[in-house]
Amino acid sequence: MNQKSFLLTLIAVAVLSVSCQQKSWVDQSIDTAGYQLTMLADEIADSAKLPRSIRNGAVRLEDLYDWTSGFFPGSLWYMYEFTGDESFKSKAQQFTNLLYNLKEYRGTHDLGFMVYCSYGNGFRLTGDTSYVPVMVQTADNLISRFHPVSGTIRSWDFGEWQYPVIIDNMMNLELLFWASEHTGDPKYKEVAVRHADITMQQHYRSDFSSYHVIDYDTITGGVRSKGTFQGYADESAWARGQAWGLYGYIVCYRFTQDEKYLDFARNIASFIMKSVDTNDRIPYWDYNAPDIPDAPRDASAAAITASALFELSTFVEDGGSYFSYAETILKNLSGEAYLAKKGENKGFVLMHSVGHLPANSEIDTPLNYADYYYLEALKRYKELAVAAN
Ligand code: GLY
Repeated sequence: MNQKSFLLTLIAVAVLSVSCQQKSWVDQSIDTAGYQLTMLADEIADSAKLPRSIRNGAVRLEDLYDWTSGFFPGSLWYMYEFTGDESFKSKAQQFTNLLYNLKEYRGTHDLGFMVYCSYGNGFRLTGDTSYVPVMVQTADNLISRFHPVSGTIRSWDFGEWQYPVIIDNMMNLELLFWASEHTGDPKYKEVAVRHADITMQQHYRSDFSSYHVIDYDTITGGVRSKGTFQGYADESAWARGQAWGLYGYIVCYRFTQDEKYLDFARNIASFIMKSVDTNDRIPYWDYNAPDIPDAPRDASAAAITASALFELSTFVEDGGSYFSYAETILKNLSGEAYLAKKGENKGFVLMHSVGHLPANSEIDTPLNYADYYYLEALKRYKELAVAAN
């Protein structure tokens, strides 16, 4: 063997060994997730409710109208996609079907999360056309919350605000983009684009960090206040809010190919990547939490960010830094500090997220959406690793 062939053989062995190592930790994580979600699904098999987190040592169950209701069925759909195992499919169908009456519901902007993560994944994976009317009707209900003067979709129907819109709402646009593509009717996409454009103007500061809640004036459409509900302070950067915005603008680019959304997403990504100063890249629940480094971490924000950055890495030529950052997050979430041991954590996959710290609710706990976006990130990572080999 000459020197050149020897070198090539060495490189091939190195690449193969890296890809085998990747396979092992990714596949082990998927295996753990499958074990956990099966345990949780079996435990609540007779319930008409869905698991959200742990409260007082027990699984916190919520009904279909809870904003997180789509994530557990969505995670089961991802497990079906990873494994092809029919038992995951039937569990995913069972828990998706619990959400059927959401098609009549207009009481929140979270309809996108609830229906796209559950029915959306089900339709994508099975092509079951009985899912489509639920999704389209939900998209109609979501755009019924659009206010043309402010140019935004109303988020919440509670509270003191006149017309609250939260950054999380960027996540509900995916259902609308899908509905326009599927039906050929542009009305859903038009609402999504208008909402995204106004949110760009009003929710973001000059450093590309985001406010959580903007209150609009229903008569003039102007801004009444900018602040927070779940973050540390009105001027702070609530970690999950930064992740929702990043993910949302990447989705906007995916569906529109409008470069302004790509540029915006890159700016948000830069803000996140320079602000999260933890070694493992799992952020504190709020970047400005006063008790850092003792503040709780938020694995959910990390999982959402990782999933978003994997997609962003595919849209740009210099996507390597996004990929590496997301890979660091994913490896750390897959380590013993965050990934549950089989049989523990009440069947949730990840530990250590924060739901609503100022309300003293869901602090340092599993959350079903941390699990959902973690599985999505694993899926995207796997697909990118396969494409690269
Ligand atoms: N959409 C609510 C949250 O992120 O907690």
